[in-house]
Amino acid sequence: MPAATARALEPHRYAASEALLERARKTIPLGAQTFSKSVTQLPFGSAPLFASRAKGATLWDEDGNPYTDFCNALCAVTLGYADPDVNAAAMMQIAEGSLFSLSHRLEAEVAEMISAMVPCAEMVRFGKNGSDATTAAVRIARAYTGRDLVLMCGYHGWQDWSIGTTTRHKGVPSAIRELTITFPYDDVAALEGLLQRHDGEVAAIIMEPMNVRAPSPGYLTAVRRLADRYRVVLIFDETITGFRLHDGGAQALFGVTPDLATFGKGLANGFPLSAVAGKKALMMEMEEIFVSSTMGGEAVSLAAARAVLRKLQREPVIPSMRIRGAEIQAEVEAALTTCGADAFATVSGDPTWSFLTFSAPEGIDVWSLKTLFLQEIFARGLFMLGTHNLSYAHGDEEVSHLVSVYREVLPMLAEAVQAGDVERRLVCAPLKPLFAVR
Ligand SMILES: Cc1ncc(COP(=O)(O)O)c(C=O)c1O
Repeated sequence: MPAATARALEPHRYAASEALLERARKTIPLGAQTFSKSVTQLPFGSAPLFASRAKGATLWDEDGNPYTDFCNALCAVTLGYADPDVNAAAMMQIAEGSLFSLSHRLEAEVAEMISAMVPCAEMVRFGKNGSDATTAAVRIARAYTGRDLVLMCGYHGWQDWSIGTTTRHKGVPSAIRELTITFPYDDVAALEGLLQRHDGEVAAIIMEPMNVRAPSPGYLTAVRRLADRYRVVLIFDETITGFRLHDGGAQALFGVTPDLATFGKGLANGFPLSAVAGKKALMMEMEEIFVSSTMGGEAVSLAAARAVLRKLQREPVIPSMRIRGAEIQAEVEAALTTCGADAFATVSGDPTWSFLTFSAPEGIDVWSLKTLFLQEIFARGLFMLGTHNLSYAHGDEEVSHLVSVYREVLPMLAEAVQAGDVERRLVCAPLKPLFAVR
């Protein structure tokens, strides 16, 4: 057994996690509520499976092992775990009540704050998950245009119209699948071709303004022009990029204003809140269509969101994340080049949300390689799942930890690729591909 895997074999490192998964799977399919927190993404035998608590940038697993966490609840805790300002706001609201028989003034207050910060946001409605917001946006677009087709790029949630385009479409009626067509990012000609072919049929273009890589100069402007020319509603899914890349979202960073935008994830720093926002003429469709839920307007999450937005306005949250994130990108790039791992891995994306992407070297299964990477970083107390999701709680110490772990693990990966013994170094079964959306 190559020495580098010794840490991953520490006796019983994940024993409590594994016992809890066995228990959970008896009553919970997959033993998790979120695919990315399940054994489809966490290699059983080499990974923590349950968190017990988290504070700032540190997460503790069920076995009591601490991790410097660059996953940050899948980009949902932009300020860091258990942020004191957000917790204080939530606690005060809990004492006043969380849900009422009537709407609450916080709904108007937070809508006004979003409207003041986000260029397209003349009006705002709230939901609980990103999927609520993207699905509401698509319904608004269909109602406004009287058309059915949706052109989509990337991942936009678990609802039929979106997930039906992936290999995980079991259970989605084919009639619905036919109404969404995917298009590649950063390819104006491909999008234009679809709009020409389906002229007069397309209700919406929905996309993340940026994910794995930055848009080529002029790309988003070209998308905006195409949407105008074909009278299609342009929706930017800012579930991740909103209140992360920039206070006003990626639309403010790139200077291209969509008709509608969706927000979620970090909006309330881990409390369940999402929003669809946009131009008044479109948003007013919500007085005619039906988007409504019992928990919509739940006040603890809104109080948390108000605290988040105030902190974004008061403190250099995003500038600080951009600086640390840029340091990470530079250090990771150097670490990859120094050991030759740049032959099979690259770092890309925005500093606040950068991607470490593995490609398949000759004769090596890329999923085994990714599994080995996760096995080794988890064993060294670093948690990430392929992206560096910066938070305001990440300081010098956290960046140094990540860099020192990468400097140990990446050369080991390069050695394993060179020796062709990646699988032999695994103490678990390799992960399998789920579905690619980016
Ligand atoms: C870009 C994007 N849109 C929508 C969603 C769906 O959000 P949720 O999981 O909160 O429903 C996600 C979730 O990962 C996402 O990344």
